[in-house]
Amino acid sequence: MKRLGILLAILAFSFSAFAQKADYQIIPLPKQVKTDTTHVFTLREGMSIAYDNQNADCSRIALFLQQWVEGTTGIHLRLAPKDKKASIRLTLNKPASKGKKGKTVQPTEQEQEAYQLTVTRGGITLSAQQPVGLFRAAQTLRKSLPTGELSTVSFPYVKISDQPRFAYRGVLLDCGRHFFSIEFIKQFLDAMALHGCNQFHWHLTEDQGWRFEVKALPDLAAKGSIREKTVIGPGNMRIYDNIPYGGYYTQDECRDVVRYAAERYINVVPEIDMPGHMQSALHVFPNLGCTGGPYSVAPHWGVMREVLCGGNPETLNFLKTVFGELCDVFPSPYIHIGGDECPKERWQKCAKCQAKIKELGLASENVKVDGDGGRGSQDGRSAENKLQTYINHEIEQFLASRGRSLIGWDEILAGGLTENAIVMSWRGTKGGIAAAKQNHRVIMTPNVFAYIDHPQLKDYSKQPQTTDSYQVSCSKIYSFEPVVPEELTEEQQDYILGVQANLWTEHIAFPEHAFYQLLPRLASMSEVQWCSPQQKNFENFKARLPQLQKFYDKLGYVYCHQVE
Ligand code: ACM
Ligand code: ZN
Repeated sequence: MKRLGILLAILAFSFSAFAQKADYQIIPLPKQVKTDTTHVFTLREGMSIAYDNQNADCSRIALFLQQWVEGTTGIHLRLAPKDKKASIRLTLNKPASKGKKGKTVQPTEQEQEAYQLTVTRGGITLSAQQPVGLFRAAQTLRKSLPTGELSTVSFPYVKISDQPRFAYRGVLLDCGRHFFSIEFIKQFLDAMALHGCNQFHWHLTEDQGWRFEVKALPDLAAKGSIREKTVIGPGNMRIYDNIPYGGYYTQDECRDVVRYAAERYINVVPEIDMPGHMQSALHVFPNLGCTGGPYSVAPHWGVMREVLCGGNPETLNFLKTVFGELCDVFPSPYIHIGGDECPKERWQKCAKCQAKIKELGLASENVKVDGDGGRGSQDGRSAENKLQTYINHEIEQFLASRGRSLIGWDEILAGGLTENAIVMSWRGTKGGIAAAKQNHRVIMTPNVFAYIDHPQLKDYSKQPQTTDSYQVSCSKIYSFEPVVPEELTEEQQDYILGVQANLWTEHIAFPEHAFYQLLPRLASMSEVQWCSPQQKNFENFKARLPQLQKFYDKLGYVYCHQVE
């Protein structure tokens, strides 16, 4: 019996150390995969990767690929920029700048990410017009690999042509409710890149903590980042741990994150949430509130009625200082200004706010706004909601002077959208649809499909404590269709820039828990973001998931093993 065991162990070992096959049925599924399984190319130790070493992006991508192949299979490949006989070749093709009739055609953002991956007798070729495409190709090659300590990998001949469906493929991480280290942010970015995501929405300020250093206002992060205590438990039972909690990111650290993300072709969209969710700033600058305070950095969750005063000119000065430094640090074309959950009860009673409303001639109109309803916001086209639009307008102009566009949560529809606002639709899709009908760009992140702070399993007892309400399962996310042809014309559909998953962190304090919430739901979301509706099939997705989970295991990611 013992001998049989040893024999089986030797057999298992020699099998794993033997050739294993690449599998192109990855997540997210490429647009086109044409495989010829009758022939294979065999990759082995010591073969080389050729690339243009005059190009910094190509050189970095080649290095990534070398590390990924070695980390996944144990096979070491040589970096040999000029090797004509290299088995893996990274090629940047010249963009076809002229279309039919000699006209210059600008590729769409999705086309700029397009790539081809071919395997033939001569080896493996990754080609694209832009480095970002090469990076996607390298990720595809990586995810096709078998994992283990292998001597060779056989690649069936293939021609893969791929590009994403949506230009904007985001994930939000809330670092206001809980603070996550820079080291963790980098792991998060790596996980995003593995899933083909390209926008990291960094939620940097909250009632419960201000996390972004503003050099002109040093107390803001120094004092606004610390709450005295944190509420315990799933609801808001007002039982506290009595432990001070804090942390913020210096501008140098933020720049480091921007650089790290850019090397993985991810843009960092920073958010300063205003004029609501500002209690941490009010704690430091009570003069910016309607009542004058005092205010504490909030120790519990929810929608706070204390917000920035909309009638105090100092509010705009404060915001311009903050957004100015934000623009200095983050090169993102989009800057998120929040705008959600701003109760107006203080504004209704505040002499300054009401004087400003009068000065601007803002009148309440009896107009219902699509997307209205939900936590604490005032509905309809009220004078106070119009005052919020006035602030948005001022900030939009300010950001435009820095060459940036504004994104806001769908509450910014209530007082009327400013000229170029991009709407992030979270209270369902109604707000997004309304915005697209007004020819505004939209990012869909409806809570019932995209809020991954919610439980992923039906049985709450099988998972760590999360936001205690409806389930957002893998299959629920997978079923989301962000473009609504019944509601939008073809032209209006083009305003849907993309889709985002949101990881709010009221109940998520630790990296392991954050990854458990993220995975494998990000895999589900990645196919909503990347694949055409015709390609999508949940059963097929589930069958492909184990291949990706091998990478989660290899990379030491904590994830939910059950898929519902
Ligand atoms: C949000 O969930 N308050 C955007
Ligand atoms: Zn006020």
